[in-house]
Amino acid sequence: MKDKLIIFDTTLRDGEQSPGASMTKDEKLRIAKALERMKVDIIEAGFPIASPGDFESVKAVAEMVQDSTVCGLARALDGDIDRAGEALKSANSPRIHTFIATSPIHMKTKLMMEPDQVVEQAVRSVKRARNLIEDVEFSAEDAGRSDPDFLCRIIEAVIDAGATTVNIPDTVGYNLPDRFGALVAELMERVPNSDKAIFSVHCHNDLGLAVGNSLSAVLHGARQVECTINGLGERAGNTSLEEIVMAVKTRQDIFSCDTELDTTEIMNCSRLVANVTGFPVQPNKAIVGANAFAHESGIHQDGVIKNRETYEIMRAEDVGWNANRMVMGKHSGRNAFKTRLKELGVEFEREEDLNDAFKRFKDLADKKHEIFDEDLQALVTETNLAGEEEWVKLIGLKVNSETGETSIADITLSVNGVEETGSAAGSGPVDATFMAIEAVVESGCDLQLYSVSNITSGTSSQGEVAVRLEFEDRVVNGQGADTDIIAASAKAYINALNTMMTDKNKKHPQVAGKI
Ligand code: KIV
Ligand code: ZN
Repeated sequence: MKDKLIIFDTTLRDGEQSPGASMTKDEKLRIAKALERMKVDIIEAGFPIASPGDFESVKAVAEMVQDSTVCGLARALDGDIDRAGEALKSANSPRIHTFIATSPIHMKTKLMMEPDQVVEQAVRSVKRARNLIEDVEFSAEDAGRSDPDFLCRIIEAVIDAGATTVNIPDTVGYNLPDRFGALVAELMERVPNSDKAIFSVHCHNDLGLAVGNSLSAVLHGARQVECTINGLGERAGNTSLEEIVMAVKTRQDIFSCDTELDTTEIMNCSRLVANVTGFPVQPNKAIVGANAFAHESGIHQDGVIKNRETYEIMRAEDVGWNANRMVMGKHSGRNAFKTRLKELGVEFEREEDLNDAFKRFKDLADKKHEIFDEDLQALVTETNLAGEEEWVKLIGLKVNSETGETSIADITLSVNGVEETGSAAGSGPVDATFMAIEAVVESGCDLQLYSVSNITSGTSSQGEVAVRLEFEDRVVNGQGADTDIIAASAKAYINALNTMMTDKNKKHPQVAGKI
C-alpha cells in the first residue's frame, strides 16, 4: 500500500499574490469548484485579514466547497488567526495555516525579534488556532535559509502546541534539490515528535527548481506539496501542480506515494486559471502547454504512429487534452449546450445566466462554424454570474482603420442605464477603442496589460483578450472573447471597468497583507 501524497493548492492565495493576478470572488469560486472537481485535497482560498474582499472570498469558498479542505492563511498574530477562523466558520473541513519567519535575515530585519520570541509567538498562535479549528498548519517562512537547529526547535514546539501539518517553505527559491530533500529528511529525523505531523513543502521557482525541490522533498519523506495551477505565484511562481502530480503518477517506479487527483481535469483548471488571470501558458510548458504533446518532426511522428510509447511518457488524455472535445455548432440545442457545460464543470445557478450564455452561444455559432470546449469556457467567463447590474455595457462599436491613417473609434455605451456615445482617435484600432471608452467613462484607470490570444486555431477562431487595469492600490483583470478582436478588446476593457466598480472591497494582497 502506497502513502497518500496530499495536494495543497494555493492558486487562490499565493497564485493571487503574483502581481496582476488578482481575482474576483466569483472567479475564485469558479476556480475552487474546478479544483474540487479535480479532487485537490486542500484549497488555500486566501488571506482573510488582507481585506474585506479577501475575507468574503474565503468565506464564500468555505461555504461552497464540500469535498476538499478549505484553508485560510494567517500570520502568527491573534487578529489574523481570529479572522481566518471567522472566514472558515461554515467550511465542512476547515484548516488554519499560520506562519512566521525563521531565517536569521527575516527575524532580525523584518520581524525585529529574537529567536526565543519567534518560538513563543509561533506556539501561542498555533494554540490559538487549535482552539478554533482542529486542523492547523504551521509554516516556518524562509525555512530554506534557516538554521536547521533552530528549525528543529520551533517545529518540535509547534507540534507540541497542536500543529497537525508542518510546512517547510523555500520562500525565495534559493535551494537545490539534493540539499532541500536532505533538509526535510534531517528535520523529520531529528525532531522527536515528527511522527505526529505531516511534513509539507512549499517551493518558489526563482531558480526554476520549485518542482525539482518539491519532488526531492517527497522522495525524502514529505507527504504534502503546496503548489499552484500553471505554477502561478509570486515572482517566478510556485511549484506547478500539474508537473508534480504527473511526475509522481508517471514515475510510480520511484515514488512510494501517489496522489488521488483526477488528472483528466488538469487542462480544464489550467485554461480556467489562464483565462481568469490573463497569464497565458507558454506553448512549451510541461503538461499544459500547447506543444506539450505535439510531435512536429517526421521521426517523432513516425515513431508515435508505430508505438506511441516511443516518444510519449504520458497520455494526453490523462491530463484532459482533447478528452471528449465535443464540437458544437449552430444546430446544437439548449440541452446539448447545458449538458456539455455540465461535463466541463459549469452549472449555472440562475436560469437567466444559462439563457444569456445560450443566446451568446447561438450568436457565436452564426459567425463561427465549429464551437469547441475552449469557446464555451470563454462564454462562461463573460457571463455576469454575480448577477449585479453592470455599470457599463457595450451597445455598439464602429472603428475605422486604414494603413497609414489614424484609427478612429465611435462607441455607444450604456452607463448606469443611460446611453452615451464617444469618439476618439488612436494609434491603432484597439487604442482608439479604449480612448473612446475613456472619453465616455473617464475612469482614471491605468492600463497595465493588454494581451490577445486565439482560443482555438485558425483565423475564424475567437480572439481572447485580457486587460488589466490599475486604480490607486487596486488591480483588476477583464476578459473578452469575440471573432472580432477589436470587439473582444472593448468587451475585456469594459469587463475590467465593471469589476473595478463592483469589487471595491478588494485590495491587491501585496498591498493589503504585506506578506
Ligand atoms: O512562500 C512562503 O513562505 C509562503 C508562506 C506564507 C507559506 O507563501
Ligand atoms: Zn509562497
